[in-house]
Amino acid sequence: MKKIVILISGRGSNMEALIAASDAGQLPVNIAAVISNRPDAKGLETAARAGITAHFIDHKTFAGREAFDAALAECIDQFSPDLVVLAGFMRILSEGFVRHYAGRLMNIHPSLLPSFPGLHTHQRALEEGVRIHGCTVHFVTPTLDHGPVIIQAAIPVLDGDTEESLAARILVQEHKVYPQAIRWFAEDKLTLENGRVRLSADLADTAVLISPEVR
Ligand code: GAR
Repeated sequence: MKKIVILISGRGSNMEALIAASDAGQLPVNIAAVISNRPDAKGLETAARAGITAHFIDHKTFAGREAFDAALAECIDQFSPDLVVLAGFMRILSEGFVRHYAGRLMNIHPSLLPSFPGLHTHQRALEEGVRIHGCTVHFVTPTLDHGPVIIQAAIPVLDGDTEESLAARILVQEHKVYPQAIRWFAEDKLTLENGRVRLSADLADTAVLISPEVR
């Protein structure tokens, strides 16, 4: 069974969805550890309660990004993971770190990339007046919130939506697509070809989830 290490910075609801999927026998991976860059991340308690090794490495105690990333990589590599999963890990990663995990570093982002990389995605989607918004799971490249797309989920932006209402509806979708993407990785159904993700033939039209509200 493939081994994963999950990186978080806060609440950890995506991490929790992965733990739940694994417990339900729907995600054939061994969650070897959860690591946070914040000592007070709520998700650390959730992971520990689930019996998963939980560590923190406080980025504030390091002189710079490279030093923190080196310590983080050293901690991750103790577990020899096949995949490193960014689940609300709110740090920009150095190029060296990303290259070290090339093809085995996944992220979830709350927008339909390449639209709205970075922060405040829901507020920016509302400001732009887009009619469709969503989330993306992708392999990580050195460019922030960029890289080969694995799966996306779309929801409609409704009149009267707020940042909070959009965030809540998209989070429901995040909790579906992240376990799905990692299951495909675990089952060797994803390959990277010329910077794009190719899915095994039986999955060809399943990499987009349209919320039932979209008609
Ligand atoms: C999620 O919405 C995730 O997509 C986002 O942070 C939230 C973490 O929530 N990630 C990013 O914005 C990364 N660019 P969680 O801690 O409850 O999983």
